[in-house]
Amino acid sequence: MASLLEEILQVIDQQGQLDTYEYATNTGRDHQTVVGAIKSIESLGEVITSEQRSFNSWSLTDEGEQVLQHGSHEAVVYGAVDPSVGTLQVDVIKSSANAKVGFSKAMSNGWLRVDKSAKDGARVFRKVDSITDVVQEKLQKVAKGNTTIPEDELKEYKKRKLVINTVTKSFIVSKGAKFSTSVAKQDTDLTPEMIASGSWKERTFKDYNFSAMGIPPIRGHLHPLMKVRAQYRQIFLEMGFAEMPTNNYIESSFWNFDALFQPQQHPARDAHDTFFLKDPERSFEFPKEYLEKVKTVHQDGGFGSEGYKYEWKLEEAQKNILRTHTTAVSARMLYKLGQQEKFTPAKYFSIDRVFRNETLDATHLAEFHQIEGVVADYDLTLGHLIGILYAFFRKLGIEKLRFKPAYNPYTEPSMEVFSYHEGLKKWVEVGNSGVFRPEMLLPMGLPDNVSVIAWGLSLERPTMIMYGVDNIRELVGHKVNLEMVYTNPICRLEN
Ligand code: PHE
Repeated sequence: MASLLEEILQVIDQQGQLDTYEYATNTGRDHQTVVGAIKSIESLGEVITSEQRSFNSWSLTDEGEQVLQHGSHEAVVYGAVDPSVGTLQVDVIKSSANAKVGFSKAMSNGWLRVDKSAKDGARVFRKVDSITDVVQEKLQKVAKGNTTIPEDELKEYKKRKLVINTVTKSFIVSKGAKFSTSVAKQDTDLTPEMIASGSWKERTFKDYNFSAMGIPPIRGHLHPLMKVRAQYRQIFLEMGFAEMPTNNYIESSFWNFDALFQPQQHPARDAHDTFFLKDPERSFEFPKEYLEKVKTVHQDGGFGSEGYKYEWKLEEAQKNILRTHTTAVSARMLYKLGQQEKFTPAKYFSIDRVFRNETLDATHLAEFHQIEGVVADYDLTLGHLIGILYAFFRKLGIEKLRFKPAYNPYTEPSMEVFSYHEGLKKWVEVGNSGVFRPEMLLPMGLPDNVSVIAWGLSLERPTMIMYGVDNIRELVGHKVNLEMVYTNPICRLEN
């Protein structure tokens, strides 16, 4: 490289000026290499000055290069025709790769004629004794950078895909204030030795290049789901909610279902919907007194309820599963709250993973994340639930909500939540909600004038909408493109 730099400086010294493109063409060098050398010289200070110019230039395509070497398609076809006895048209057409195009050009040039009277098929004869391959001659000129060919001819060759037009940027370089033909190597590092000997005073140091692109630091990357989770967490924290400990994917059926007044015959407790654990298959530690109350309320009723009137089995409640909803965690927290000497109102939230034995498709996996909010206080009503849902969704930029009666074993009343999607111009389901049943809360020891309102939604759905992902497999699983995880933008909820 040093020699190229010096060579360039020599040329500038002798000629006063140098055009990078011309210089590269004349010396058979790659233009980018020459431009690179100029940039290196410029970094040395005021050795040179440069000015950019851009111009159109024509160059040959691969097909053009072929014509340059072997002649135009029409000339090749002309050459393939026997000068004395002619050649069968079928053979002429097969004589070279571009013979078809060449044949029709040669015909319209008046170079060939076809005799259709022969018995063995149409025969092609030369109509002239010699030809001049103008196209090849012109392409020779283009290859040499000759610019005297009329524009309309070039356009004709461009149509035939023999030449292409490109905009080239080159630099016109001339001497700078501190011009010199030798490049002193600049130091990049100041060493302790230079300081000790004082030799740094005589040296020239390379300037820092503050506009160079930095190297991205090696670091971890947050998956879009985790970014959106952070935003939802922020909303709950702003609203005064405390995060529940959700660090147990494995749960007993007791806390996942029984505590929530979900009968033991409920279809959700089937192996088709729930993943059961083989090892350890069962849980054995339950709050005794509470367990008895849960059993009673299922079997015989109580607290003003008739119960389900079936034989409640401990073995069923003991079965370990992968939790199917984070409401299992809410149940544990509400039980704790019910065990306090004096009840204190509470607002809890959680955002974590749950598992369901589902049929997989573009929007469903066997595991996903739930976002859940729970409020326990005296005399809460459906009106409070609706109010807090508006407050929560407004923070997500969603103003219009609608509610539809629904059914959950553990809430009464229950409501599905719909929001108006401005983009899709329709109402879409965004969550599920309800007021927890007394059959669930009273066995826990909560005072009977305390009610608990709650709602839940999935984390995947808003994430897919926000990041424009329409197949869940692009977001979760082995098909995830890691590049997407590295480069996905930060998440901002409109509020
Ligand atoms: N647990 C419900 C679900 O899995 C969501 C929900 C949470 C509903 C709280 C009502 C109250 O879909």
